[in-house]
Amino acid sequence: MALVPLKRRRRASSPPAGPPGPGRFPAVVLCLVEKRMGASRRAFLTQLARAKGFRVDRAYSAAVTHVVSEQNSGAEVAQWLEQQREECGAEGNPALLDISWFTESMGAGRPVEIESRHRLRVTTLAPHRWQMAPYACQRRTPLLHSNQPLTEALETLAEEAGFSGSEGRSLAFTRAASVLKALPGRLSTLEELGPLPGIGEHSRRVIQDVLEDGVCAEVERVKLSERYQTMKLFTKIFGVGVRTASRWYQEGLRTLVDLQERGTKLTRQQQAGLRHYDDLNTPVERGEAESISRAVQGAVQRCLPGTSVTLAGGFRRGKPHGHDVDLLLTHPEAGREAGLLSRVVSWLDSQDLILYQHSQENSYALQEGPEPPGGRDVMDRFERCFSIFRLEVQGGPGAARGWKAVRVDLVVAPISQFPFALLGWTGSRHFERELRRFASHERKMVLNSHALYDSRRNLFLPAVSEEEIFQHLGLEYVPPAQRNT
Ligand code: UTP
Ligand code: MN
Repeated sequence: MALVPLKRRRRASSPPAGPPGPGRFPAVVLCLVEKRMGASRRAFLTQLARAKGFRVDRAYSAAVTHVVSEQNSGAEVAQWLEQQREECGAEGNPALLDISWFTESMGAGRPVEIESRHRLRVTTLAPHRWQMAPYACQRRTPLLHSNQPLTEALETLAEEAGFSGSEGRSLAFTRAASVLKALPGRLSTLEELGPLPGIGEHSRRVIQDVLEDGVCAEVERVKLSERYQTMKLFTKIFGVGVRTASRWYQEGLRTLVDLQERGTKLTRQQQAGLRHYDDLNTPVERGEAESISRAVQGAVQRCLPGTSVTLAGGFRRGKPHGHDVDLLLTHPEAGREAGLLSRVVSWLDSQDLILYQHSQENSYALQEGPEPPGGRDVMDRFERCFSIFRLEVQGGPGAARGWKAVRVDLVVAPISQFPFALLGWTGSRHFERELRRFASHERKMVLNSHALYDSRRNLFLPAVSEEEIFQHLGLEYVPPAQRNT
């Protein structure tokens, strides 16, 4: 198509397939659902609308604002939308409309105001047992749930999609898993799910396979694949992300020994990660996390009495073990925390408690205004120390040598930002992502680990507790133990 000269393309009788121009109404992008409407009627309506200056996209994308269907139920179109989102890996929150809106708009020669009679009703109907709020931050998700085999399968595919750089696909599987984690009981048939939000066609197939056969062939294939196994091996090295692991895989590297034998260039962080690989991939027990927390507590009392140390991350959500220890430091008097971290780290180091560390300075300035949501949604700019602790142990894998290496993150938050830091560092990662998505899509607010900004009113909303942040967002408070999305 791209090679056909423009002139000839214009003369062609069927509507152009390429991306159409903005049309006369730039705020309106239509997409017509073919189901029930049929291909020829769809083509006819498309031409009609384009002739009137409307932009009609053939494929769904995040740009679409109005989805129009004919003789489809709200549930059917909601499911169709979920599938489109999964396929294109894009979000978007279009209005789901009946053909009546389209007909009236064509008659008026402009997009008419959407009235409730135009909207398709998306409700969970009788045969389905469950209802679910669309954002994970509106739901309660306990640590233990009844659909482990299903969520494991979906999360394997999410991980694999992440390894291939398909963020949208990865998110779709993560979302589906997160919905299942919030179900009040064990799912026994696919029908019970009904048109639950967040579960697309591909995820439904995986769920069906696991329900029927106990396993899903696609998932089993992924788990056995050389690429998945190698990517997992490499990304478990502290300091190695998907991009580096992927490059090494492309270069033919397959094992940790390969890295050494082929003289692969490693950062200081990666060298430490490799040196302590086994320890760092042995789960950290809650008791170990608490013991590290006490050691840091001791250090801060020497350096700056009154400083508090809070165990965040998975442990705060009630997990019995984790991959690291996330500690937040703050002082009740604003400004006193400046310079604290380097003194604490030096003292811990002098006690032979630190095997590796690198620190990052605070680079956050409130007056700059908030970051736009998206891009750096997980990263924050607190003063922070990425470290590996040397923890004395009696039992477990390190028993023979009497110590074990443990990953510890120390994060310093000024008191005014502490509730935001605590909320941001308690996770889960998906819960945080959903909170930020909810804030921006539903409230036109920007939330990060430093602050909450109201873009409609142009102001920062201060908070002294997590509860208050939920209040600002108009969300029911979700306690940490229910954030295991
Ligand atoms: P973790 O990756 O430690 O996850 O980040 P976790 O939930 O504690 O899981 P395990 O048990 O260690 O495996 C904890 C939270 O801190 C936030 C993330 O949002 C996550 O939810 N975080 C992490 C950041 O905000 N920035 C970072 O750079 C890292
Ligand atoms: Mn953690």
